[in-house]
Parts: sequence; structure tokens; C-alpha cells
Amino acid sequence: MLAWYAHVAPSSQLAVDIFEGEWSGALPPEVGATAGAMYLYADPRINFFIERAGGVTDRSVLELGPLEAGHTYMLEQAGAHVTAIEANSHAFLKCLIVKELVPLTRARFLFGDFLPYLETTTERVDLLVASGVLYHAPDPVRLLRAMARVSDSIGLWTHHFDAATMASNQYFDRLFDPPFTVEAAGRQCTMHRRNYLESLEFAGFCGGPEDSAVWMELDDILAVLGEAGFDDVEVSYNDLAHPYGACALFHIKRLTMAR
Ligand SMILES: C[S@@+](CC[C@H](N)C(=O)[O-])C[C@H]1O[C@@H](n2cnc3c(N)ncnc32)[C@H](O)[C@@H]1O
Repeated sequence: MLAWYAHVAPSSQLAVDIFEGEWSGALPPEVGATAGAMYLYADPRINFFIERAGGVTDRSVLELGPLEAGHTYMLEQAGAHVTAIEANSHAFLKCLIVKELVPLTRARFLFGDFLPYLETTTERVDLLVASGVLYHAPDPVRLLRAMARVSDSIGLWTHHFDAATMASNQYFDRLFDPPFTVEAAGRQCTMHRRNYLESLEFAGFCGGPEDSAVWMELDDILAVLGEAGFDDVEVSYNDLAHPYGACALFHIKRLTMAR
């Protein structure tokens, strides 16, 4: 019997188990299969973006880093036409499995790095969803500027570097290099390189495209977006006590400045 062939009748679980042990999220109940533990298909963060964007029915959404399509599912359920860009080959294929099993009919998944796409596309979207991606970027200032090209409405959930939070937990000491600064938005932004270390060994690793990423401080993130004309921000929460580092959920709009 060939090990890479299936030898039983088709089922959702059989398809999901192609990536057994690599799933982060649970799948919508209608799929009828067991995957990971996180309820990313029923995530209040996405509801916040949708509400703050004034709904997404028949509107275009670009999603960065869909992972396993849980948020894509929510955005489609809310009526959006979604394009989602994923660079991790296993994550991309997991998205396609979910797309087929649900099925998703108004979502399209692109395999590749979203940064060069954002920097070169002429497409504009009604809402850009950037959940869980900024703190995985090797050059987050460049990513923020690229994001600002494609939409006037951005939903972000991201970890950020809060000095007091980091100082309170020794877990972070070995992950971060000493800070450095870059000039952006007329200020010196303090940047913090985070090394992935042993997380890279997990088959379901779902960080960024390099073996380290750079975290920014929240004020600097808002300043870089502010320089690009994003002047209307609503912060849903800023959780300084999160076990994996401070994180904020916010939506930001460009109301005034010409692009
Ligand atoms: C931490 S997960 C976040 C998943 C989901 N968006 C969420 O908020 O739960 C980051 C995802 O972004 C993808 N990703 C990170 N950097 C990327 C890049 N430069 N281009 C495309 N996908 C990327 C990862 O492969 C992973 O699927």
C-alpha cells in the first residue's frame, strides 16, 4: 500500500489529517472534523473590525496571513469578498482544505509573501485585515507603509514591545536582542528583534518568513500610520498582561490626507 495514498472512503477528517498535529485552530462545526484548539472561526477581534468598518457586505477585504482560514470564514460569512495572502506553504494548503470543506465561495487564497504584493499592487480594498502579522515582520515600518498603500481602513491585532511588561517576565529576556532605533515618522522608533529560537522546530510554526522578527512599540506603530494619514483610531483593548507580550486590538482609518 502506498503511504501517501488514502485507503479509506473520503471524509473531512481524512483531508484535515493530511496536516495532523499542525493545526492551530478548530474548524467550523459544519466541517465535522477535529483539528486544533483555538476558535479562530468565531473570533471577537474580527467582529470588532467588521463593526468598526461599518459592515463588509459586498465589500472587498484583503487579509494578511490567513493561517487556516478561520478569519477568512468569518469575513465571508459577514458578506465580504476576501483575498487572503499566505506565505507558509502548509498554512496555504490548510486554507485550501478549509475552503473546500466549508466550502468558501467568495474567498481566494494567494500563495506568496504579502509584503512585495502590498508594495506593488494597484488594487485598493475596502478593509485590510492585519491580525497577528505585524510582530512577525522583519521590517515592520516597511510593512506598515506598504499596508497604507492599499486601503484607508485597517484592522490590526498585534503584539508590541512594552518595556514594563517585558521587564516583569524573565521569559522574554532570552528572546529579544538589545533594542535599536530607526528614523520614521519624524521620530526615532525603538525596535526590538525577537528571535524565534526553538519555536521554529514546531511543525505548525506560524510566524514570519525569517528566523527572527522585529517588534515595535505601540506609539511608534501609531506614529508611522499617522504619517501615512491614518488619523482616526479606535483601540478596542491594549492588554499589557498577555503571557506572550503586550498586545493591542485596534482599527485605524484615513479620513483626511491625500495618498
Ligand atoms: C500568527 S499567524 C496569524 C494568523 C491569523 N491571521 C490570526 O490572527 O490568528 C501569522 C500568519 O501570517 C503568515 N505570514 C507571516 N508573514 C507573512 C508574509 N510576509 N507573507 C504572507 N504570510 C505571512 C504566517 O505564515 C501565518 O499564517
